[in-house]
Amino acid sequence: MLDRLPDAVSVYEVSPRDGLQNEAAPIPLPDKKRLIAALIAAGLKRIELTSFVSPRWVPQLADAEELVREVQAPAGVSFSALVPNAKGLERARQVGLPEIAVFMSASETHNKKNTNKSIEQSFETFREVVPPALEAGMRVRAYVSTVWGCPYEGDVPVARSIEITRTLLELGCYQVSLGDTIGVGTPLETKKLVSAFLAEFSPPNLALHFHDTRGTALANALVGLELGIRDFDASVAGLGGCPYAPGAAGNLATEDLVYMLQGMGVTTGVDLDALIEAGKVAETVVGRRLPGKVHQAGKRVLRGA
Ligand code: HMG
Ligand code: MG
Repeated sequence: MLDRLPDAVSVYEVSPRDGLQNEAAPIPLPDKKRLIAALIAAGLKRIELTSFVSPRWVPQLADAEELVREVQAPAGVSFSALVPNAKGLERARQVGLPEIAVFMSASETHNKKNTNKSIEQSFETFREVVPPALEAGMRVRAYVSTVWGCPYEGDVPVARSIEITRTLLELGCYQVSLGDTIGVGTPLETKKLVSAFLAEFSPPNLALHFHDTRGTALANALVGLELGIRDFDASVAGLGGCPYAPGAAGNLATEDLVYMLQGMGVTTGVDLDALIEAGKVAETVVGRRLPGKVHQAGKRVLRGA
């Protein structure tokens, strides 16, 4: 263990979407823009801004068009947003977004609760989304949720998650993010699961999306890193979860991930001090303390320093 660490890792920041979609009170647009500006200032290069989903399902992100129109991506920064169907794609195209992410679950019940579709219906829908998006010059990422377990169905067969991932890659998605949506995974299980995926797909086609609901997100990320995964999703200060997955609170905090990686000599391009500041901005935006550890404790201070 720890003898195959890479030089660099790519962090995909989800807080403006996966974080804010869960908030009970509406977050004003200027506060969303403040959070995104702080994330950019910290050096994050891939940021998921919002969702073009039904505003009736996720009213917190109903301002998606306005938000995307009002934030500019500096050179080298790529913005993305969730898109559930052709209508969402059209909305994303209208505002000139260069990248979208489609999403589905590996379990039927969670997929139904989250998108009102069976897994088969999700694929039918994505056939109307992914090829036209690619033709329009967009990049398409995908999420598969509940890979480590479903809040309604319990264990999810890994073979099913692998077949779903295969279909998404064949459709033209450049990367599939595998989600431990309810944060139940433990390291040995992660090793078995991620190894099974890596027997079928190459590392750049896979990302890992952990939730720290039970305190195992970093341990699982470390296992993925050791196995060869180089793409990790995270959310500043641990903001958020999934509104249709009970117990999904607490995405892996970006600063906890970056702190661990930096301490092991793995580059992320992120400035940890500025990221800690972004975590504080996230706390002021939602008006409460957030669970990430490093933004609370600060960086390591050397004795005598
Ligand atoms: P539905 O109700 O079955 O949709 O919802 P529909 O196609 O029957 O349409 C119903 C109404 O919604 C219609 O309006 C449509 O026009 C409208 P009406 O005619 O009644 O006035 N509509 C839309 N409006 C705006 N934008 C759209 C859109 N589509 C339809 N794109 C639907 C189906 C998929 C739309 C709905 O279920 C939905 O929006 N779900 C999204 C839920 C969501 O965002 N969940 C959280 C994200 S997933 C997640 O958090 C997990 C992840 O983070 C990974 C992890 O953490 O593990 C990715
Ligand atoms: Mg999440």
